[in-house]
Amino acid sequence: MSSDKPLQLLGGLTAREFLRDYWQKKPLLVRQAFADFENPISPDELAGLALEDEIESRIVLEHGDHPWELRRGPFGEDTFSSLPAKDWTLLVQAVDQFVPEVSALLEPFRFLPTWRIDDVMISYAAPGGGVGPHFDHYDVFLLQGHGKRTWRVGQMCDAESPLLEHADLRILADFHESDAWTLEPGDMLYLPPRLAHFGTAVDDCMTYSIGFRAPSASEVLTHFTDFLSQFIPDDERYGDPDIQPATDPSQIQHDALARLKDLLSRHMSDDRLLLTWFGQFMTEPRYAERVAGSELSEEDLLEALAQGAVIIRNPSARLAWSEMGAELMLFASGQSRLLPGNLRPLLQLVCSADALHQTNLGPWLEDEEAVILLSQLVMQGSLGFADE
Ligand code: SIN
Ligand code: CO
Repeated sequence: MSSDKPLQLLGGLTAREFLRDYWQKKPLLVRQAFADFENPISPDELAGLALEDEIESRIVLEHGDHPWELRRGPFGEDTFSSLPAKDWTLLVQAVDQFVPEVSALLEPFRFLPTWRIDDVMISYAAPGGGVGPHFDHYDVFLLQGHGKRTWRVGQMCDAESPLLEHADLRILADFHESDAWTLEPGDMLYLPPRLAHFGTAVDDCMTYSIGFRAPSASEVLTHFTDFLSQFIPDDERYGDPDIQPATDPSQIQHDALARLKDLLSRHMSDDRLLLTWFGQFMTEPRYAERVAGSELSEEDLLEALAQGAVIIRNPSARLAWSEMGAELMLFASGQSRLLPGNLRPLLQLVCSADALHQTNLGPWLEDEEAVILLSQLVMQGSLGFADE
C-alpha cells in the first residue's frame, strides 16, 4: 500500500499525513469515510450474538437499577423485550472473529500494523443510549453503521482524572466539551488514547469501534521478565568480586546498585529474546480455545491442495513476522518459529492473503520447509481448510 496516496478513509489525507498529524495526537472526523456504507450486520443479528456463551457482550442502562448499570452477557432471549424504550446500549466485542463481513471492514486499516489491531466492537443503542463520558487507553476509529449518533469530545485525561464512584464502569466525573459532531452511516471519528468522549444515540443506531491494543509498560515488564527468567540459569547471581571494605556494613552502597543495573541490562538488552517475546505476546489470541487444529501430514496437505482445497486464516488467529538476523521469525497465535530467509514471500503471503491454494502457493508446494510450515500452522489451528 502506498503511504502517499490520498485515502477516502482518512478524508483525503495520506496515511503518512494522518499518522504525522492525528494518530495518537488529536481527533479526526471523516464524513463518508466509507461511502454508501452497507451495514454488514443488523441489530437483530447483533442481539443474537449477545446470546452466545463464547462471545463477550454487555448492556449499559443509564437509568437501570442504579445509574449506568452494567449487565454482562450472555443474555437470554427475553432480555431485549424487557429493556426500556430509550437510554441503553448493547456492546458486543470482537465481532470480526465471528462475521467475515465485519472482519472485511479492517482491510482499509492495513496502513497500520495488524498486530496493533485489537478487534471490532459493535454497539447498538436505543435513542439516548451511550456508555457515559469516559476515556480509553487505546486509539479507536468509531464508524457509524446505522442511524445517527452524536459524539462529544472533551479534555485529555490521565490516571488522576476524577471518576464517578462506580463498581464496573470508569465514568468521568467532569467532562469539558470541546467539540461535538453527529455522525451518519459511513461517517467515522478517530480518537486518540485518553481523550474524553461521550456518544449519544440520536435514533436507534449502531457504531463499529475499530480498537487498537497497546500493552501497558507494567504488562511489558511483568510478562517480558517472566519470559526472560526461563532462560536464566539459577547459578547466575548478583556478584561483587570488586567489593571494597565496608565503612558502614548496614549501608547499601551505590556500587551495589551499579552491579544490579549491570545484571538487569545484560538481560534486558537481549534483542532476540525481546523480539521473540513481543511477537508471541502480541499474537496471543483473544479466544485461545478457538485456535485449535488437528493432525495433518504434509502428504495429506499436498493431496488436499491438489484436490482444490482452500486454506484460510482462522479469524481468531493472529499472525505477524519479523527479521531475526539473516533469518525470519513467524509469530502465530502466541507461538514463534525461526525460519530461513528465503521463506520471506511465503510468510508475507500467509500473513496477508485471504486464501491460500494451489495457484497462489505455486512453487512453495515443492519446498519441503514451506510445506512443513503450512501443515504446522494448520495443525496449530492458525490456518484451516475453508470448508471446515
Ligand atoms: C459505543 O460504541 O457506544 C462506545 C464506544 C466507546 O466510546 O468506546
Ligand atoms: Co470509548
